[in-house]
Amino acid sequence: MRAPSIVDLYRPQAASRLDEAAAGLLAVPATVSPKFFYDALGSRLFDAITELDEYYPTRTEAAILARHGDALAAAVQASIGTGCPLVDLGAGNCAKAERLFPLLKPGRYLALDISADFLGESLRALQWRHPSLDITGVGLDFSARLALPPGLLRGPALLFYPGSSIGNFDPPSALRLLREARELAAGGGLLIGVDLVKPVAVLERAYDDELGVTAAFNLNVLRHLNRLLGSDFLPSQWRHVAFFNAERSCIEMHLEARQNLVVRWRGAERSFAGGERIHTEDSRKWQLAGFRSLLQQAGFGRMRVWEDDARWFAVLLATER
Ligand code: AVI
Repeated sequence: MRAPSIVDLYRPQAASRLDEAAAGLLAVPATVSPKFFYDALGSRLFDAITELDEYYPTRTEAAILARHGDALAAAVQASIGTGCPLVDLGAGNCAKAERLFPLLKPGRYLALDISADFLGESLRALQWRHPSLDITGVGLDFSARLALPPGLLRGPALLFYPGSSIGNFDPPSALRLLREARELAAGGGLLIGVDLVKPVAVLERAYDDELGVTAAFNLNVLRHLNRLLGSDFLPSQWRHVAFFNAERSCIEMHLEARQNLVVRWRGAERSFAGGERIHTEDSRKWQLAGFRSLLQQAGFGRMRVWEDDARWFAVLLATER
């Protein structure tokens, strides 16, 4: 049986990651990039979130893909052809891409994720189920730049960016990422899931669930920072806060200090007053027209769109022509 090959381009950049995390903690207001959610436990907690009743995006997107799979496969075949490489951006447990295999029959599967360890586990299990598929995993922080070393991908490819992770980027960064995706696709296309604006109560429940899984996901970033920076955060001193900011069209997630406290790490420290927050994530909810125009600005000239009946979520296939 083949074994997946794994290239980790992320771990070697550890030093700049420490600087980035420390700079965010010292900023006013303090911020932590959402990429720090995804250590091995954070990736598992995110998987658990996707199974919550309150978290509608994953199941809504899966239902769209299941319902319109044939139309989608026909559209991919018509504009890109069959058997082209499938490049999974933020692959995680690879489950979403695996469901597309029977429809798209990719000649190759290239999975990119910030957590190469978690990706390695997922890909070994995947290879077991698809023994003849050519599988490559790349540990990569594409929030900084989406590009691969020469030779890793040749010819047109279908990039798959599900789950509305594009919503975790501010609009200028989202535009940059979409441009880089178009370049990487090299005349192929981008299949992308986008979460749309909907009633605030639905949005806020999805990011503050009854079981507290999202709270654990948010608080786990402090454990990850303790490991990275050697900081002394006590998660019990912090509270998960999530709300919809209508002006920014974002769910904002924060960690709020329950009391006055001081956090120390490697020769630095930061005092937080009770009630002060660390901003950990934005999850932007798009209007479909706004997102289409972003894709257009990124150089995609043709789009096919599939939505659920309630129009809570959209899946778009974007190609250059
Ligand atoms: C990965 N990303 C699309 C998720 C989202 O909905 O913004 C991350 C997440 N944060 C809290 N719950 C899920």
